[in-house]
Amino acid sequence: METARIGVTGLAVMGRNLARNLARHGHPVAVHNRTAARTKALVEEFGDEGTFLPADTPERFVASLERPRRLVIMVKAGAPTDAVIDEFAPLLEPGDMIVDGGNAHFADTRRREAALRERGIHFVGTGISGGEEGALHGPSIMPGGSAESYEALGPLLEDIAAKVDGTPCCTHVGPDGAGHFVKMVHNGIEYSDMQLIAESYDLLRHAAGFAPAEIAEVFRTWNTGRLESYLIEITAEVLAHTDAATGKPFVDVVLDQAEQKGTGRWTVQTALDLGVPVGGIAEAVFARSVSGHADLREASRDLPGPARGTVGDAGFADKVEKALYASKIVAYAQGFHEIQAGSAEYGWNIDSGAMATIWRGGCIIRARFLDRIRAAYEADPSTPTLLTDDHFAEALGDAQDAWRDVVATAARIGVPAPGFATALAYYDSLRADRLPAALTQGQRDFFGAHTYRRVDRDGSFHTLWGGDRTEVTS
Ligand code: 6PG
Repeated sequence: METARIGVTGLAVMGRNLARNLARHGHPVAVHNRTAARTKALVEEFGDEGTFLPADTPERFVASLERPRRLVIMVKAGAPTDAVIDEFAPLLEPGDMIVDGGNAHFADTRRREAALRERGIHFVGTGISGGEEGALHGPSIMPGGSAESYEALGPLLEDIAAKVDGTPCCTHVGPDGAGHFVKMVHNGIEYSDMQLIAESYDLLRHAAGFAPAEIAEVFRTWNTGRLESYLIEITAEVLAHTDAATGKPFVDVVLDQAEQKGTGRWTVQTALDLGVPVGGIAEAVFARSVSGHADLREASRDLPGPARGTVGDAGFADKVEKALYASKIVAYAQGFHEIQAGSAEYGWNIDSGAMATIWRGGCIIRARFLDRIRAAYEADPSTPTLLTDDHFAEALGDAQDAWRDVVATAARIGVPAPGFATALAYYDSLRADRLPAALTQGQRDFFGAHTYRRVDRDGSFHTLWGGDRTEVTS
C-alpha cells in the first residue's frame, strides 16, 4: 500500500491549500475531513497536482501515513482542536507528531504539548501566516515543539515555505508553545501596522485633502521605497478600488467598524502579564474596538471640536511617510520586546533575528524592513531594543520633526491618530532622563505606604506622611 509522507485533516481553505502545496512539492499527502465531501472535492479538483491519498475515516487516514507519522490538523482554534486531538491521539504511537497549524493560543499549545508528551507524541504548535494564498504558494511557518520533531518535519515545512534570497521562511522557533507565541505577536504587529497605515490614510484624506485614488498613488510610491511591504501594496489596491454598485470609492461604502478574531487582543493581554509596554499594538486593538461601538460614537457625534480641514502643506505626505516609518519601527521594537520577554519567561531561547528572517516573506507583515531587523539582530543579538540599532536610530532622528508635526497636526485638526501618538510617547519615554514615575512613587507611598527607592542610596524607604514626614527605612 502506498504511504503518505504527511497527512492533513481539516480541509477548509487553509488546510486544502496547505495539502496542495505539499503535493505540488512532490510529497504524497494523506487528506481527511470530517465531512468526506470536501476530501472528495479536493481530489477531484486538484488530484493532478500531486499524490493525494484520500481517507474517509480517521483510522484509514492514520494507517496511510509513513512512520513516524506526521499529522497536520487545520481546524478552528479552541474546542475543535481539542476534539480532533482526542479523536486522533489514541490512533498514534510514540514518536508520531501532531502539527497544529491553526491560530491557537500559546497557553493551549503548552497544555496540549505537555499532555501528549506524556504519551510519547510530539505536539507541534505551528504558526502559519500568509492567508489562503500563502498556504498554497508559500507561507511563513513558525513551528514550536521539540527539536526532535523539527528534524522530521522541518525539511518538509521548509520545502513548502516562502523563500527570500533562497532562505526558507521557516525555522524551529523553540519548545512547546513558542511557535504559536511568535505567531500571536506577528498578528499583534500586523494589527499595529494596519492601524498606522489607516491613520496615514485618514490624515492624507482629512488633513491633506486627497481623494482615495490619489492616496492610492501615494501608497504606490511609498511601496517603491523603505516602506515596501505587502500591507502597503494591498492598501493601494483597496484605495484604488471603486464600488461597482454606486461608483463611489470602495472605502466609502464599507461600514467603518473593524472586526477581529482575537490574536491582537491576546498579544496585548499577554504583554500585560509579562509587563511589556506594547502601546502601539494596544492602541491598534482599541482603535478597532472604538470603531465597533456604534452607539457610543453616535451619542458623541455632536461633541465640540475643530472642523477637519486641509493643512495646506505641500510636503505633508512626506511627513506622514516619516511618521509612519518611525512609528512602525516602534511597533516592531515593542513586538520583539514581547517575544524576548516570552522567551525568557518560558525558557524558549528564541532567536529574534531568525524570527525577522522568516517574516521577510510569506506572511502578512512581510516587508523589506524585516531584513533591516534581521541585520540589526545580526549586529547585536542581545540588543535590548531595536530603536538603538544604528540604522533605526538614524531613521528615528531623521523623522523627528515630521513625526512630531504629524502628531501635533492630527491633534490640532481633530483627526484621531492614536498609533502615531503612542509610538512617539514611547520613544520620548525611553529617551527621557527623568520620568514622572518618581512622582507616582511618591503618591503611592503617601496613600498606601508602598515605599520607594532613592537615586542616591540602596534600599526601600517610606516617608511618614501623616506624621513629621521623616524618612524611615522599610
Ligand atoms: C496571517 C493572519 C491571519 C489572521 C487574519 C485575521 O498571518 O495569515 O494574521 O492569521 O487570522 O489576519 O485576523 P483578524 O480577524 O484578527 O484581523
